[in-house]
Amino acid sequence: MRKWPSFVVALLVSSITFAQNKSASPQASLKDAYKDCFMVGAALNPAQFTGEDQAEDAIIESQFNTISPENVLKWAIIHPSPDAYNFSPADKYVEFGEQNHMFIIGHNLVWHSQVPKWVFEDDKGNPVSRDVLLGRMRDHIMNVVGRYKGRIKGWDVVNEALNDDGTLRQSQWLKIIGDDYIEKAFRFAHEVDPEAQLYYNDYSLENEAKRRGALELVKKLKAKGVAITGVGLQDHVSLEWPTTDQIDATITEFGKLGVKVMITELDVDVLPSASHTADVSYKAASDPKLNPYPNGLPDAVQQALARRYADLFGTYAKHCGLVTRVTFWGVTDKNSWKNNWPIPGRTNYPLLFDRNAKPKPAFDAVIQLAPKHGS
Ligand code: G3I
Repeated sequence: MRKWPSFVVALLVSSITFAQNKSASPQASLKDAYKDCFMVGAALNPAQFTGEDQAEDAIIESQFNTISPENVLKWAIIHPSPDAYNFSPADKYVEFGEQNHMFIIGHNLVWHSQVPKWVFEDDKGNPVSRDVLLGRMRDHIMNVVGRYKGRIKGWDVVNEALNDDGTLRQSQWLKIIGDDYIEKAFRFAHEVDPEAQLYYNDYSLENEAKRRGALELVKKLKAKGVAITGVGLQDHVSLEWPTTDQIDATITEFGKLGVKVMITELDVDVLPSASHTADVSYKAASDPKLNPYPNGLPDAVQQALARRYADLFGTYAKHCGLVTRVTFWGVTDKNSWKNNWPIPGRTNYPLLFDRNAKPKPAFDAVIQLAPKHGS
């Protein structure tokens, strides 16, 4: 495992000047640059894995060695009604990953969002019993994980089960099954594919209270012998939050519990904050003051974004081997969810590639910081 002393990271960061308005080396590749440290990936949408978006495919194939599905494996899409599975988009996603020899992630099995109402209700619209819901969860996991057994290598088994204060979210899963629903989901997934890596995935785990809750959860699962491989820190971050010290401490603390850490949904929001929560159900009203860069990102902000990305990758690379994967939540700024959340129709700049699929100064910054850049 490579550990970089923090002064080396600081020196590297301070010595970097980020190219402005100039393309990064077309040969530079994130996956090669970080190959001794962690895998680098992106979340994909159907236009990318069906070959419709060739500009983005060129980036995906040259830059990434792992992929996540932005939406197609979510319950509402893959299992919209009790007896109907819509496997076709997910099949294409998995085929794309195999054709490109990528480590394929499944996202996700049990979440409070994007689950159809029928899952929790009987035919009269009343809540189902614990046993019925456990049966539905088990069938879903058996069918979905079973279909891609040996092909999808790692699953976000439970997504976003915690509140900001570290307590368990009052989801339908919790209300109907009780707090062992998390353990059950992991046990079902392990039963059907014992070789698959299994993760707990959440946002804002860098904040003290929520992190404590997640650490307790992982401890309890491990004490019960549940097969949890790792924790996903989503890292939907801003230019200021969380600090790299918070990220560093979070990675270290999960590492002490004997689980791997993955950065699973990385992006950096450069727009004024319109929300105090990262909950996907939150919506805010449109306001031009909250959309200040509709025609392009000023150089000063472009530079701040590059410095932020350098700091983030410096922090992740301090934990090579413990951090096993860094996945961006999208490929280019054009399709990022950040353009539509929490306010629809904003122009955001959260990723390393711009709206024309060109690398940004932040891309250069990340490459320059890597142990093997440009190879
Ligand atoms: O599929 C329908 C389509 O039929 C319809 O015409 C269209 C109209 O709005 O909506 C489509 O569904 C959208 C879906 O994405 C697929 O594009 C939903 O409205 C939209 O809410 C959904 O947003 C996704 C969101 O999760 C909710 O599932 C985002 O793309 C996706 O980036 C986001 O990803 C989440 C992670 O799964 C968990 N962590 C947070 C992260 C960001 O919110």
